[in-house]
Amino acid sequence: MSEITTEAARRRTFAIISHPDAGKTTLTEKFLLYGGALTAGAGAVKARGGRRSATSDWMEMEQQRGISITSAALQFDYRGRILNLLDTPGHRDFSEDTYRVLAAADAAVMVLDAAKGIEPQTLKLFEVCREREIPFMTFINKWDRPGRGALELLDEIERTLIVEPTPVTWPVGLAGEFKGIIDRATGDFIRFERTARGSTVAPEEIVAPDRAEMEEGEVWASASEESDLLEMLDRNIDTKTFLAGESTPVFFGSALTNFGIRALLDGVVDLIPSPAPRPLADGSRRPLDSDFSGLVFKVQAGMDKAHRDRIAFVRVCSGEFKRGMIAVGGGTGRQFSTKYAQTLFGQERETVDLAYPGDIVGLVNANEVRVGDAIYAGEPCEFPVLPAFAPEHFMVARVKDTSKFKQFRKGIAQLDEEGAVQVLRDPDIGDQAPVLAAVGQLQFEVAVSRLENEFGAPVELTATRYTIARTTDAASAPELRAMQGVDVLQRANGLHLALFESRYWMDRVLADHPHLTLQRMVAEGGLF
Ligand code: G4P
Repeated sequence: MSEITTEAARRRTFAIISHPDAGKTTLTEKFLLYGGALTAGAGAVKARGGRRSATSDWMEMEQQRGISITSAALQFDYRGRILNLLDTPGHRDFSEDTYRVLAAADAAVMVLDAAKGIEPQTLKLFEVCREREIPFMTFINKWDRPGRGALELLDEIERTLIVEPTPVTWPVGLAGEFKGIIDRATGDFIRFERTARGSTVAPEEIVAPDRAEMEEGEVWASASEESDLLEMLDRNIDTKTFLAGESTPVFFGSALTNFGIRALLDGVVDLIPSPAPRPLADGSRRPLDSDFSGLVFKVQAGMDKAHRDRIAFVRVCSGEFKRGMIAVGGGTGRQFSTKYAQTLFGQERETVDLAYPGDIVGLVNANEVRVGDAIYAGEPCEFPVLPAFAPEHFMVARVKDTSKFKQFRKGIAQLDEEGAVQVLRDPDIGDQAPVLAAVGQLQFEVAVSRLENEFGAPVELTATRYTIARTTDAASAPELRAMQGVDVLQRANGLHLALFESRYWMDRVLADHPHLTLQRMVAEGGLF
């Protein structure tokens, strides 16, 4: 094996998805604790009060609103492996961002609150996972609090998500009276001890089944009965169906008290596949040990007011990334230097000199690259197009003070490149009054706030009549444009979007003019 394939084999690249408040941030902090990357206590992941001055206003907004918009990538070691954890935004309005982050991940961990089970947002994010066809594990969190029965939760996963839950661990003690877990592979009881506020690793004692029966009595008996039942039903981990997204390994625990965290991390290492050659747009795969290539899955500007820069987050897909190497941005074909390459540790930045497949690199000032672009050295390559989500909200943006038009135009272009909102233009009107199209309303709030604070261009948004969009082409555009209640606008990449006042009207147009090109976009209708 080459050094590159050896390094790739050590990596696990995954994302956590959850409904807000299920415990994603707490779990992330505990992963870092178990990886030895956090010495005591939590707080490296969420920006705390003292740091606020260094963060931009819209990050303040996300703190106030309790939502997570900025996705950070964290790297830590565990059991000799290197884990790359991609954070996903928790709010449904940013599900398109989640989709892009998942494009850079090899698997996901879905976190559920034991008292709530599958919540609306869990379902939506799960659908994004399914759309991307990536395997996912399930962590049932907050078992230290009164919640629902373990079998009932499994049943809900199976019914709602149509996947087979295969528990790797099983809780001993009802929700709220958590004693430990059964390791279903060995049958042993892993007993936990609480630590003060969960700030250190929870001491674990491995207890053989007969001793567990003596010491825990009734509680152990009913847990092991349930585990035996699962055995009878053949609810055991199955790699093939897991990788196909048809079954999900389930872990129980409590991120707050650290119960079950080690078992979950072991699952991440043992079950999640290491980076493999990724498919390219032409259907071929670029071998891991060939020239460097990476996928841009997120572009973000203004992360830090003090720096005012733009970072392109790249997942290394093949080869070796060396800071300072000359790379080519697939979108423009232009070369650029990678002198400023960083990783983010929560809010902190660190320089990265070397990265391997599966790693995430933040390239500062990699201007002109867009989400979905390939970056490469040597042999050119292109990744399959990341589909745009169907926007359902459309607003016209105008600058309030016309002397700020230049800033407005720059800001709008930036938001478009980042994919923070989709920017649509009427070719006859141009940049004066672009239509901002979003999957969720919160995207507009972020856009308005950033245009004002980052670019110094306060804007006014006015509602439009449109509620649904389809992609179309130049040939169909004139006929559609001539119809009432329909408009055709264009994105910067040339894509034509036909906007309709209502689904009913769109269906009529489709039925009456079958020769027109009108295509569905990802995540429409049933999904969102
Ligand atoms: P999120 O990122 O998914 O939105 O969730 P986050 O980790 O912020 O957790 C949401 C709340 O749930 C927090 O409480 C957190 O302490 C709590 N929590 C997380 N894991 C567990 C767990 O295993 N058991 C229990 N009992 N609670 C858990 P908060 O009061 O909103 O915030 P904080 O003041 O504790 O920070």
